[in-house]
Amino acid sequence: MNNVTDRPRILVIHGPNLNLLGTREPDTYGTTTLSDINETLQRTGDGWGVNVDTFQSNHEGMIVEAIQAIAGSHHGLIINPAAYTHTSVAIRDALLLLKIPIVEVHLSNVHKREPFRHRSMISDVCTGQIVGLGSMGYLLALEFIVKTLRKSSAST
Ligand code: DQA
Repeated sequence: MNNVTDRPRILVIHGPNLNLLGTREPDTYGTTTLSDINETLQRTGDGWGVNVDTFQSNHEGMIVEAIQAIAGSHHGLIINPAAYTHTSVAIRDALLLLKIPIVEVHLSNVHKREPFRHRSMISDVCTGQIVGLGSMGYLLALEFIVKTLRKSSAST
């Protein structure tokens, strides 16, 4: 992958247990691994002229720090906070620091699942949310961010 430094940068954050994608509850989350997802996003982003960085952590504070670290360096964020979606005021507060398009992605349709998964602490501070489309949701989120960045650079 090219990592051309003056291209727009997009970060993809994956929360806890998503490192186990491929083997974790495949009926719910599919058989695509996290590295498959990341490679597809990086390859596709490369073709669309953006650099895609990826980060996974099982720790809430590490995710907060990853969000804080991109203020000023990145132009878009795709985030699946996994279980922290439903609980984390800290991740929500960190997202409020960013002034870039943010897309919340969930592989499964959280609204069809247990009631505690219906609540997202971050949806109303994100630009939009994609649920239930499996790994394709990340690609659609990337397409949205790239097109949004192109539109805003064409109008400036
Ligand atoms: C998830 C949904 C969450 O409720 C769950 O805790 C996850 C994955 C999803 O991508 O469908 O770990 O974010």
